Amino acid sequence: MFQPPLPQLPPEDAVLTDGVLRSSRFGDIYFSTDGGLAETQHVFINGTRLSDRLATGEPLIIAETGFGTGLNFLAVCAEVLRTNSKSKIDYISVEGCPPSKEVVAQALSGFSELVDLCNDLLQQWPRRWLGVHHLSFLNGQIDLHLHYGQAEQVLPTLDFSADIWFMDGFSPAKNPDLWSGQICQQIARLSAHQASLATFTVAAAVRTALAQAGFTVQKAAGFGRKRDMLTASYDKGFAHAKAVSPCSVLVIGGGIAGCAVAGSLQALGAEVTILDAADQPGAGASGNPAGIVVPFLTVGDMISSRLSISCLADTRKFLDAYQLILSDGVVSLDHDDRKTSRQKKLAEQGFPADLAVYKDAAELSALTGLPLSRSGLYFETGAVICPQKFAQHLAASVPRLYSAKLVSVSGQAGDWLAQCEDGRRFTADHLVFCSGADLPSLLQLVNQDLGPYQVTSGQLSDLPSTTSLAPSRIALNYSGYLTPVIEGRQYLGAGFDPTGDTAVTAAGHLHNLELMPSELRDLAGDPAAWRGRTSRRLAYPDRLPLAGPLMPGVSVVSALGARGLTLASLIGKSVARQITGHVPPLPYQIMSGLNPQRFFEKKL
Ligand SMILES: Cc1cc2nc3c(=O)[nH]c(=O)nc-3n(C[C@H](O)[C@H](O)[C@H](O)COP(=O)(O)OP(=O)(O)OC[C@H]3O[C@@H](n4cnc5c(N)ncnc54)[C@H](O)[C@@H]3O)c2cc1C
Ligand SMILES: C[S@@+](CC[C@H](N)C(=O)[O-])C[C@H]1O[C@@H](n2cnc3c(N)ncnc32)[C@H](O)[C@@H]1O
Repeated sequence: MFQPPLPQLPPEDAVLTDGVLRSSRFGDIYFSTDGGLAETQHVFINGTRLSDRLATGEPLIIAETGFGTGLNFLAVCAEVLRTNSKSKIDYISVEGCPPSKEVVAQALSGFSELVDLCNDLLQQWPRRWLGVHHLSFLNGQIDLHLHYGQAEQVLPTLDFSADIWFMDGFSPAKNPDLWSGQICQQIARLSAHQASLATFTVAAAVRTALAQAGFTVQKAAGFGRKRDMLTASYDKGFAHAKAVSPCSVLVIGGGIAGCAVAGSLQALGAEVTILDAADQPGAGASGNPAGIVVPFLTVGDMISSRLSISCLADTRKFLDAYQLILSDGVVSLDHDDRKTSRQKKLAEQGFPADLAVYKDAAELSALTGLPLSRSGLYFETGAVICPQKFAQHLAASVPRLYSAKLVSVSGQAGDWLAQCEDGRRFTADHLVFCSGADLPSLLQLVNQDLGPYQVTSGQLSDLPSTTSLAPSRIALNYSGYLTPVIEGRQYLGAGFDPTGDTAVTAAGHLHNLELMPSELRDLAGDPAAWRGRTSRRLAYPDRLPLAGPLMPGVSVVSALGARGLTLASLIGKSVARQITGHVPPLPYQIMSGLNPQRFFEKKL
């Protein structure tokens, strides 16, 4: 089936001249020359009566079209500080053509009252990659979900109930796509009962579209030279449950998946404990001494590609923040005709250079320090990491209990009793199954069966640093992978053995050698001198992870396949936020693609 390619963001078009930020494409300015911050305060902050909402201390969802430089967002942060509000805020914004960090820094430099907040935003300014970027402000009080993409494409993939809408954009005459009836219908769908909306325009078409979508629209005094602006309230919709109470959660499995979800749950106020069957950390696949973080891009617009790009953005941010990168960059070699053709098509899609660029064999040889005869894709933001250290940082202060193999579960959502093999018992409101390849047996404890699955084992070969592969500077990915030397050892992975057997064998080493590009095999030395580690991975037929609710009171994060190191962090965060009633950063469209019950839903 033909899949259209993943859309790419248009080239940057924001230009700062004489202190005024303009879009060359739309021929309009970003904010008023009469005072951008004062305009934001008048139109959006006062127009939606934000301070009244902040005074309640209730959680708030604020949504926006056109993030631009983030001035409206910064004004919200400043208002939270000014009012000393305790409200926890999810700020969800869509931006189709993000300006560069440098341009934003210059454009916002005049607002001295925002300098600290602005520096915080600039420090976290996302890479220009399609998808969601999840940032945190004011010690976690404000979560920014910044969706890069065209609003008309992004909004239909989201699901939340906003209390407040900032309808921003260039003037409707110059930027009609952002003010269409379709956009207003989406805004209504994504609004809570009695949501407040404000916008600077009073264009008749916008008033009509908002009214047709169910808003009650009013004119109010405009800012500066503008006589009028609009405020609106949504009297339809449902009042959504506001109380997000911290709950007690048992996370079963302390690999990368369990640590990702547990760390996020704890940050959201839940009382979390990790139970792991093994007697020490890193028993499962996440215990490998090294692994690569790399995107999985597809030629067509597929969930796996979108998921992978957003997850890589989030994971790389975390790895950089905690200095967990052992080696920067990953090269994906054209190791056979099929992959060559696929990678060339990928390159033609014009991904941003810091995500994926195509390079010839000479360039790759110079980059990697190895004599390569193949071209391939270079992922600058890919990396080699130690999975166990990553897992440790994701759940740094979560209690983890070992030799705690879960063997029975009774009770119901809000009142589970979980028993371990050694007789220890635990109670919890919610369970999260993160037991990697052992998920199917855990599912039986709650009478669930998700249908056919595959467990494969893979052996990581551990080479001394004395072989002729040691000069390698960057990880290579082909049908297996090779890392540079990491703390005196070099790692070669890994086949997919359908027997699921976990013995380390000479045949496993030979298989890893055979997977290598032929020009490198002779450099690898004698496999008899290699050590190894074998572990298992789980996959379901569509090769997508399982993430989300399994049944009331039980969620799953598992089946991360061969990409767990890239995927776990953002998926774990999204499931933790689902469990505690917050908006997950990953779009609803992606989360439903990962829903553990998806195989049954399709059959209906
Ligand atoms: C050889 C090999 C190489 C790989 N290389 C890479 C790579 O380079 N990059 C990448 O992104 N991914 C790689 N992967 C995949 C990646 O390792 C996995 O996706 C990831 O580690 C899975 O994490 P997890 O937390 O789901 O499972 P695991 O790390 O396997 O953790 C599951 C945990 O659950 C515990 N458990 C099981 N049953 C119970 C129970 N009943 N009660 C309590 N605890 C239980 C286990 O003890 C274990 O600690 C590789 C996988 C293999 C096998
Ligand atoms: C007037 S500016 C927004 C100003 C912004 N709120 C700020 O604080 O800088 C309008 C923004 O809307 C974005 N935009 C225009 N059309 C869009 C669309 N169809 N989807 C998403 N964003 C769009 C532009 O790229 C631009 O950044």
